[in-house]
Amino acid sequence: AAAEKSGYDTFMEKEINDQPHAVADTLLGRTDAEGNLTLDELHIDVEELRAVTKIVIVACGTAAYAGMVAKYAIEHWTRIPVEVELAHEFRYRDPVIDERTLVVSISQSGETMDTLMAVRHAKELGARTVSICNTHGSTIPRESDAVLYTHAGPEIAVASTKAFLAQITASYILGLYLASLRGTSYGRDAAEVMAELQGIPAQIETVLAGMDRVKEIAYYMADSRSVLFLGRHVGYPVAMEGALKLKELAYIHAEGFAAGELKHGPIALIEPGQPVFVIVPSPGSEHGLHDKVVSNIQEIRARGARTLVIAEEGDEDVVPFADEVIRVPHTSPLLAPLLTVVPLQVFALHLSTAKGLDVDQPRNLAKSVTVE
Ligand code: G6P
Repeated sequence: AAAEKSGYDTFMEKEINDQPHAVADTLLGRTDAEGNLTLDELHIDVEELRAVTKIVIVACGTAAYAGMVAKYAIEHWTRIPVEVELAHEFRYRDPVIDERTLVVSISQSGETMDTLMAVRHAKELGARTVSICNTHGSTIPRESDAVLYTHAGPEIAVASTKAFLAQITASYILGLYLASLRGTSYGRDAAEVMAELQGIPAQIETVLAGMDRVKEIAYYMADSRSVLFLGRHVGYPVAMEGALKLKELAYIHAEGFAAGELKHGPIALIEPGQPVFVIVPSPGSEHGLHDKVVSNIQEIRARGARTLVIAEEGDEDVVPFADEVIRVPHTSPLLAPLLTVVPLQVFALHLSTAKGLDVDQPRNLAKSVTVE
């Protein structure tokens, strides 16, 4: 068993450290020598893909947060409206789906019953179905019109980490491919984004190499009763994924919020000593959200929050309002989740360890939920 864990104490720690490979392997073989996308594996007629009027992403758990991240990118690149829905809600609410809808399921195992039932329902309604899946030959890809495999390798720990990064990567590849088919890449062509994605594995290594302080923070926070996570734009699903990791692994009440929603309710939760992770967009982001999130940090700090800030290298604006600053390298805004989620995974792992819990097999959870 020690060998299977490559010298790490737990599968989860190994899988977190495998993430540069999970992303690199998922990118592998999907571009030609010029860096153009070649998705021959996607066996859906190109004309059908060009005719798509709506994309619906269905998934559960961590895979659904990957879908939420993907929505920002796919809509931006393709100009096709994207909905993201929890698979178990989708099927029971009479969704508006037809032959021109592309339903994209995301599942690590390919066996999640809720997701499978959503795919079957989408097919009954006439939609084209694409599966983003990590497990070759599993049920969901077999029942879908096409599959884009993530190449994260087997994920053993119940809480998903490397599959999440691979799911974001694969859904970005799909989005860039659809954008190039439709000639809508809005200023940046697919090859340019692919080139930036190729640099992500080395940047994840950089993040992983700087995690000593996050481990210390996790140890001294082992008695926390509640931890909040704030993010905006693609940082919002990252905040929810950070909270999910903490619930799953450390049994701590945790919630992820959209930073813009703070003033509409969640700020009432802030009291002296409340720990809050904040995922800060790049100061260079064209969407201009950096300063708004820095103001949020200032607001919660003024009310006594302990602020644990994930910010880009060189972003000094956060320093006056941060109890801790955790650094990630610069990326363009849409790629940032591939880096910013990593410290949150590492935090949950070490907090669970600090509490003496079973990191790989948290209570009450199953790796793959094959019942509805
Ligand atoms: C279970 C696991 C989660 C996972 C979810 C979806 O609930 O505990 O970690 O995110 O299923 O799994 P899938 O295999 O469909 O990605």
